Amino acid sequence: MAEKIIMMTEQRGAAPVIPATPETPTGLLSDRLARPLRDLRISVTDRCNFRCVYCMPKAVFNSDYQYLPHKALLSFEEITRLARIFVAHGVEKIRLTGGEPLLRKDIEKLIAMLARLKTASGQPLDLTLTTNASLLARKAQALKDAGLQRVTVSLDALDNQTFRRMNDVDFDVRDVLQGLEQAHKVGLGPVKVNMVVKAGMNDQEILPMARYFRHSPFILRFIEYMDVGASNGWKMDEVLPSAQVVERIHAEFPLQALDANYSGETATRWRYADGGGEIGMISSVTQAFCGDCTRARLSTEGQLYTCLFASSGHDLRALLRDGHSDNAISGALAQLWRARADRYSELRTAQTALPQAEQRKVEMSYIGG
Ligand code: GTP
Ligand code: 5AD
Ligand code: SF4
Ligand code: SF4
Repeated sequence: MAEKIIMMTEQRGAAPVIPATPETPTGLLSDRLARPLRDLRISVTDRCNFRCVYCMPKAVFNSDYQYLPHKALLSFEEITRLARIFVAHGVEKIRLTGGEPLLRKDIEKLIAMLARLKTASGQPLDLTLTTNASLLARKAQALKDAGLQRVTVSLDALDNQTFRRMNDVDFDVRDVLQGLEQAHKVGLGPVKVNMVVKAGMNDQEILPMARYFRHSPFILRFIEYMDVGASNGWKMDEVLPSAQVVERIHAEFPLQALDANYSGETATRWRYADGGGEIGMISSVTQAFCGDCTRARLSTEGQLYTCLFASSGHDLRALLRDGHSDNAISGALAQLWRARADRYSELRTAQTALPQAEQRKVEMSYIGG
């Protein structure tokens, strides 16, 4: 495992430079490709109780794996302070991720702190969370009461054998389904369900999933298996292009394309022609959506990544713990975002010529989905 630890250390970036003249945020930051800063995804733990084969394969995330020590984690106060600065620069949506965010102790306290923030135009934030739902049935009400607006649940199969093979910890699908129902019941909707499709592993579940969630309050989205991180052994022939997912579903339940809800949406939307509801396709591999990517990611230890596929971050925790003012941190963030030119998925073809082990990409469980 020494190899792994070295890799993570290399991916930690230095503290960003503080600009000489502080500036007041206007909410109108724009990067080198004219993309504003609108979404912040905050990873609150690098741990998870699942070992999904495409995310935290057991061979790597075993008992030797060194997770972050507690003192390395951003505290709730530190997270909220940074979130306030991001919001002043234009962030309107905050998503808590992990690992599994519901494993972070007292997560509802953090939610209550974030729920008090207002966007640059005085609106409440879109405050949401991505979870594997293992603890959701128990926690949904407390999350709602704390001010969470909605949740997105990861679910890769309905067939228990397939589901257990995907999560690799023998977790029962019925518990996830209960979590889903409970989230809907307490008003954490619209609940989205994300299914990562790995060809040859769970693609036979596409139609059963579509069938199950038709005429339900849940919005099912199919995600192309991505070459994120350096440990999942990704191969292009395990990606089932979304176009084929659409074809398979359309053959049984005719579909019609819908317009995007908002610019920069990850999913393309479809509706069942018979009024059975909406589904989405997240085609990160075959139809990259970097062109209007407005997402920043904050790792559990306070490294800022300007792309899911970045090979190194920027140490915002160092700025906090070195006693810099909000204005100084705000200026550093503005400078970083203005310099951003990431569009990894669009450039993927050239990059993936390298074997995955030689690419230095950060793990999704560390940076957050
Ligand atoms: P909504 O707010 O509900 O529209 O959610 P979202 O689509 O912004 O976020 P969600 O966390 O549900 O994203 C679903 C999946 O899309 C993630 O788990 C990733 O697999 C993929 N994804 C999200 N953001 C990015 C991104 O910036 N780049 C790439 N390549 N994939 C992304
Ligand atoms: N490809 C696509 N999505 C992934 N996720 C994690 N690893 C991958 C991958 N290799 C996303 C899934 C999951 C969320 C927590 O992270 O959407 O639901
Ligand atoms: Fe855990 Fe989600 Fe990764 Fe699965 S995809 S291992 S549930 S963080
Ligand atoms: Fe954004 Fe990077 Fe994903 Fe492209 S690959 S959509 S730039 S996070």
